[in-house]
Parts: sequence; C-alpha cells; structure tokens
Amino acid sequence: MPSSVSPFSLIDVPGGTPLLGHLSAFKHAPLETMSAWWRRHGDALRFRLGPKTLHLFSHPDLAEELFVQQADRFMKVYDPRRPTGLALVLGNGLVTSSGEVWKRHRRIIQPIFHRSRMAAMADRMAQVGEQRIAAWGHCGREPVNIADEMMQLTLEVISQTMFTTSMAQHINQLRHALRVSLKYAFDSLHNPLRLPAWMPTPRNREFRSVMQFMDGLIYGLLAERRRSEAKHDDLLDLLLQARDEETGAGLTDQELRDEALTIFAAGHGTTANALAWTWYLLATHPEAKARFHEEVERVLQGRTPNVDDLQHLPYTRAVFEESLRLYPPVPVLQRKAATKTTVGGLPLPEGALVFVGIYNLHRHPAFWTDPDRFLPERWLNGERPTARYAYLPFGAGPRACVGIHFASVEGPLLLALIGRRYDLQLAQEVVEPEFFVTLRPKGGIRMTLQPRRVPVVSSV
Ligand code: HEM
Repeated sequence: MPSSVSPFSLIDVPGGTPLLGHLSAFKHAPLETMSAWWRRHGDALRFRLGPKTLHLFSHPDLAEELFVQQADRFMKVYDPRRPTGLALVLGNGLVTSSGEVWKRHRRIIQPIFHRSRMAAMADRMAQVGEQRIAAWGHCGREPVNIADEMMQLTLEVISQTMFTTSMAQHINQLRHALRVSLKYAFDSLHNPLRLPAWMPTPRNREFRSVMQFMDGLIYGLLAERRRSEAKHDDLLDLLLQARDEETGAGLTDQELRDEALTIFAAGHGTTANALAWTWYLLATHPEAKARFHEEVERVLQGRTPNVDDLQHLPYTRAVFEESLRLYPPVPVLQRKAATKTTVGGLPLPEGALVFVGIYNLHRHPAFWTDPDRFLPERWLNGERPTARYAYLPFGAGPRACVGIHFASVEGPLLLALIGRRYDLQLAQEVVEPEFFVTLRPKGGIRMTLQPRRVPVVSSV
C-alpha cells in the first residue's frame, strides 16, 4: 500500500527548455537519454516532452507498486476513441486496451498460450527453423544481417503457429506493412509536433494503404475460416473457438482482427531482437560461446531440438535470459494513473504519465553484481536477482506478457537449432542499440555463418 513517508525523492531533470522541455535530447536518442538521466540523477525522475510531463521510475519497488500492487490504478496510455501510437495499428487488442475490455480479452486469450500447448507449438517452431536455415547453406562466406534473418525467422514462426500456411505467399508484403505501420505509430507517439493523420501527406497515404492491406488479409482469412469446416490447429483456430468462461461469448470479427494483429506483431519483433542480441553477445564472448556449443552438441547429438530438450539445456536458457537482461526487447513500459495516487510515497496526479525503465532496472548496480557484464552463469542453479522486480523482460503483474511461455520456448529452441549447425561470427566493428518499437541493433548486425562440423540427424 502507498506509504506516507517516501524513501524516494522525485528529481526534476535539469536542462529542459520552456516550450519543448527535454524533447530534443529525448527524440534524438530516447533510451540513451533516459539511461544517462537515471545514472546521473536517480531512480525517480520527472521531465517534459513538449506540453507533457512524464516520470521515469527505475527501481524494483516502484515497478512492483505500479505493475502489481496498484495494477488497477495504472492503465495503458491509449484511448480507443482517439487512437495514437500502437493503437493506430493494433486497434483495441490486448497490448493497447485497458479496463473491462482488456480483462475480458485476457480471460479469453490467456488459455491459448498455456504452457501445456507449447510442445505442439515447439514442433512447428523447429520445423520452420529447419526450413529457414536450410536456405543458409547457399549463403557462402558472405556476411548476412543477422537481425534481418532473425526477424524473417520469427515472422515465419508466428505465421505458421498462428495462421498455418495461409500467410506464406504474403509474408514479405506483411513484413513491409508491419514495418511501415509500426514506424508511423511509434513516431506519432513520440512526436507531439506531427501533422494530423487526415492530411493527405505521402506518409499518411502510405500508412493508410498498408493498413488496408493488413485488414483485407485478416478479415479475408476470418471469413474463409468461418465458411469452411477445415481444422488447422493453429492460433487463429484457437482464437475463433475461444469463449469467455464467465459468459460463454466469443470475440467479434473486429476484436479478432485486433487480437490477431496484436499477437502477430507482439509475437515476433521482440523475440527476433532478443535472438539478434544473443548472437552478438555470444560472438563477443568466446568462452560463453564455446560452452553453449558444447552443451548443444552433447545434448542434441545432431538431432532437431524439441520442447523436452530444453530442460537439459540450462546454459542455453541462461544465455537467453542474460541477453534479455542486457538488451530487453521492451526497454521501457508506459502507464497512465487512472486516479490520483502515490507510488513509493511519491504523489502522482490523476492522468500522470509514467515510464518504467526496464533497461535501467536490468543494469541497476544495487541489484546486480557486474551489471554491465554478460555473465550467463548468474542464471544457473536457479539463482535469481536479489530483488524480484529487478528483472522484468516480460513485464509483471496482470499485464505481464501473455506469450511468455511461447517466447521462453522459442528463444532457446531456435538458439540450439541454429547453434548445432552454425558458428556465428561478428563481421563489423561497432554495434549500437536503438530504441525503435523494440530495442534493436541499429542498422542490424553483420555476421558470417560458419558451418560446424558435427553429425546432423534431422528428426523433423
Ligand atoms: C522475448 C520475447 C518477448 C518479450 C521480451 C516480450 C515482452 C513483453 C512485455 C514487457 C509485455 C508487457 C507490456 C506492458 O506491460 O505494457 C508484453 C505483453 C504482451 N506480449 Fe510479449 N514479449 C515477448 C514475446 C511475445 C510473444 C511470442 C507473444 C505472442 C505470441 C507476445 C504477446 C504479448 C501480448 C499479447 C502482450 C499484451 C498482454 C496484456 O497486456 O495483457 N509476446 N510482452
């Protein structure tokens, strides 16, 4: 519960200008700026972006209050009557909705992602992975952009698990449509000076055209599924069959469109970037890479991995967890106070906007030894950070990632599957993080794929 004496002090970030506040520094490099402010000024900060005042909290106790203890007092920032940011693309799906709508959808969708369904999904993931890396055999020794490759791979995984083969011929167009629409949405949220969406600018027109393409595709697919009796046993079938256990009602076509696009969008860019960063970290830490390859080789003996193998691959899982710590794909979470309240004893007015700095939490020296070092060993033997809410790659509380089991299988499974055949080596000097929808490597990462000399027995 909120306490009256605060162990935190709220610091106003210095240096804002009267009209724009801190907008120019923030807009130029949001993540670096928030990280630098936190290191310089502390765990509870206040700053301004144009007319908006924001808070930046970077302490596990503040995160726990916001996401868990006071979860019902903090909502998402999107207003379904005036969509901005991601809501422009995803509508009122799980990521962007709040209140009763979100509660009902979460009740309906959560069972679809239950741990018990992961074995079947893992087989599809492995199948897609094998097909995709079979094409790498033709790459020769030329470096590839591994961030792009991981994006394509996870896009194919989510397409196959969600829509079976129905999307196969549209995948490149879909990837383009998502890239254009998410960039538009992300820019709209962080640029209060943008031109309104109704103006016929080239950018607005392009946005509308890719949205029409995605809507047409999904509504077409829904109509086809409702017409035919065929079973696909994929996420879309599960969404169509899902019923609210309290009321027995399913989702309308508009709701299904929003949720399908939400799961599709939320379910691949995050994992793709996590994998890209993991290959980068392994390539720059030869000892960890050798240990990873040794484990994969010993456990799989050349087989394609399945969900049961993961329990015998603790180092591979630790590598993935450590990569999510250093480069969390969602480096900042945002909430709005639904009522006047206090967090960590700090008063917040109704409507207050709060960022929780996940990236900062993950590197907080009070809760991690050697916070900036890549040390997968810290996750072995069930060890956990000293504060439970210091590690939040999947968020926390009722709004934590609904795809956490999916991602926790997909990440290590694809690492093992690729690591068993290839040794990935860095082919560029500098790799910089960039916060753009997710935390991605700016411009990608060029790597060479050296085939490994191990017996390969495909079981898929
Ligand atoms: C490494 C991979 C992933 C990471 C790091 C990640 C991270 C997150 C985080 C931090 C949130 C909470 C957002 C908030 O509190 O504002 C979230 C929510 C969500 N994620 Fe993930 N995610 C990943 C993979 C996935 C996958 C594979 C799916 C689906 C297949 C998925 C679907 C969702 C959905 C639908 C939500 C909204 C949940 C709600 O608000 O009820 N995510 N994710």
